[in-house]
Amino acid sequence: MGFQAQTIDDLKTQAKRRVPRMFFDYADSGSWTQSTYFANEADFQALKFRQRVAVDMTNRSLVSTMIGQEVTMPVAIAPTGFGGMQHADGEMLGARAARDAGIPFTLSTMSICSIEDVAEATGGAPFWFQLYVMRDRKFMYSLIDRAKAAGCSALVLTLDLQILGQRHKDARNGLAAPPRMTLNSLMQLAARPRWCLSMLGTRRRTFRNIVGHAESVGDLSSLSSWTAEQFDPKLNWADIGWIRERWGGKLILKGILDAEDARMAAETGADAIIVSNHGGRQLDGAPSSISALPAIVEAVGERIEVHMDGGIRSGQDVLRALCMGAKGVYIGRPWLYGLGAGGQAGVTRALDIIRTELDITMALCGERDIRNVGRHNLINPDVFVS
Ligand code: FNR
Repeated sequence: MGFQAQTIDDLKTQAKRRVPRMFFDYADSGSWTQSTYFANEADFQALKFRQRVAVDMTNRSLVSTMIGQEVTMPVAIAPTGFGGMQHADGEMLGARAARDAGIPFTLSTMSICSIEDVAEATGGAPFWFQLYVMRDRKFMYSLIDRAKAAGCSALVLTLDLQILGQRHKDARNGLAAPPRMTLNSLMQLAARPRWCLSMLGTRRRTFRNIVGHAESVGDLSSLSSWTAEQFDPKLNWADIGWIRERWGGKLILKGILDAEDARMAAETGADAIIVSNHGGRQLDGAPSSISALPAIVEAVGERIEVHMDGGIRSGQDVLRALCMGAKGVYIGRPWLYGLGAGGQAGVTRALDIIRTELDITMALCGERDIRNVGRHNLINPDVFVS
């Protein structure tokens, strides 16, 4: 499939035309006033590159590592719920695109395709699994065990969603998987016949990690009712210990935005943290991820690997985050827009766009190896220090 998309924004425009409104809006929204969602993107622009010339730019390399695993570029796909509603079998397609691109794919607990679906789709190539802490410990154990059995090579434990931040668009649109048969939903679906047709061709239309696996959950359609019932508001640092023990593999803690929390996270024995505000979907009014990153890097030093996500829309943004001390980054909306625009080929296009932009930007900064970039590539690395 030939894609005209030159930028992630082009893919977003195409996704908007193909995906029913409730699912497009689910991706393209933040909580409350969406100020943190917008700041995540906008704050990247404050960081200015040092342009260097007459530097040998041959033989460039974007290869690096994240938690010790080799990646063809230090960019992973972020866990996102409802992937299989942007496109039929969405997470399976995304995982294949990531595998082919040589980067990690992180499957959300709240995915449509199950852990087992994705394992089968990737032919055993390892992916990462994201876990929420839930009241039903038996169900959590079983999710951890299923991720192990599927050969997942890292567990990403999300800490910033003990309670769901309110997203007004989701409430207005009647977000549910599968969509409810209300007049509002039916009108949204009727406007996207091609999407409806492709959904008829798959049996994966609800949260397959959960339905049929968790006791007391027979028919789950609403994210908000599930989170209200199941996400554990009592989660605390002591929980990390038993989760780490049960899992026994690489552990990444997601949702750290504060230097003090980062210091505590570094004490848990986890392998990495993700500086993240959940893509501006939780605490509206919190700082952007890129502006929070330097204080966290400074606070933890070499004690734990630091990753980040939030607002990355180009290879330039990836480079800025790496220059500011992130060892790797994750993309949420960019992969979803690619998926909505064109399934696996769309995700591949999103990754190609970012890879090419990253490579050219690195070269124009006078660097040949992504592992060598740093604060010296920026004119104003202290712009976020207050
Ligand atoms: C998310 N995010 C998320 N995080 C997580 O740990 N588990 C999840 O199920 C989800 N679900 C989810 C759905 C959607 C539609 C979005 C946009 C995001 C947060 C995600 O992992 C990541 O932190 C952000 O998406 C990063 O910001 P960008 O790249 O979307 O700007």
